[in-house]
Amino acid sequence: MQFTHNGNAEAALPFWPATTYDGRMTITDHNPTSDNTLLTPEALLRQFQWRAAVKKFDQHRQIDSATWSALEEVLRLSPSSGGLQPWKFIVVTDPAIREKLVTASFGQTQVKDASHLVVFAAKKKFGTADVDAHVRNTAALRNVPVETLDGFRGMLVGTIQSKDSAAREAWAARQTYIALGVLISAAAVLGVDAGPMEGFLPDQYDDILGLKEQGLTATVICAVGYRSEDDQYARAPKVRFDASKVFLHV
Ligand SMILES: Cc1cc2nc3c(=O)[nH]c(=O)nc-3n(C[C@H](O)[C@H](O)[C@H](O)COP(=O)(O)O)c2cc1C
Repeated sequence: MQFTHNGNAEAALPFWPATTYDGRMTITDHNPTSDNTLLTPEALLRQFQWRAAVKKFDQHRQIDSATWSALEEVLRLSPSSGGLQPWKFIVVTDPAIREKLVTASFGQTQVKDASHLVVFAAKKKFGTADVDAHVRNTAALRNVPVETLDGFRGMLVGTIQSKDSAAREAWAARQTYIALGVLISAAAVLGVDAGPMEGFLPDQYDDILGLKEQGLTATVICAVGYRSEDDQYARAPKVRFDASKVFLHV
């Protein structure tokens, strides 16, 4: 399928080539290690200067399906410790559910106004069965006998078992924040707005979305869509410490 862009992304990234995707958005015609034309450092920085944690979304503007599919696939491709993916991404588009979630988010209207809402959820009791599922998947996708991965499995099980249940849950929650960062960055590159949020009540989210029954808990959420023209914050200068305060080069 041909990858198309919304107006924003096209305007922002004039030298983005048409990219052919195969099936579920697998890039087949571009090798970034041998070809540096996909995105220049200047264009990348322009997108990251442009991006903002949008507070007011345009409730009439939806993300087109090709763009959204790419963002979902980017989430699926997010890295995680050991590749263990101790998460689920709940994409909430049902307006009635989103209305309930506003109340559980201290009235933050981004939750209902943005085109899409992603709730990042961590597995609460990540254990050996989850490691085994990952090891079996690795064997199948890399076409190797599962027994050849015994050492890998032992290392992963050892790491997981070295943590008590609270540490395991905290570890799983940290992994979901990696996926959040990936989503925010990918959205910025495509000229799509993302509003990450911790200002919500996880317990209420878990109830509303039925996450408890699935052994999951909401960790962080992200509204994704397009900023409203009168969003005050999106145009405000970025507030960041100087590089000298943030980096140590040794
Ligand atoms: C994990 C996380 C949680 C956040 N929670 C909220 C939130 O609940 N409500 C909100 O308006 N902004 C929230 N923000 C947005 C931050 O305030 C914002 O990213 C920060 O001030 C920097 O501004 P910028 O992202 O627009 O550059 C959150 C950001 C992150 C990364």
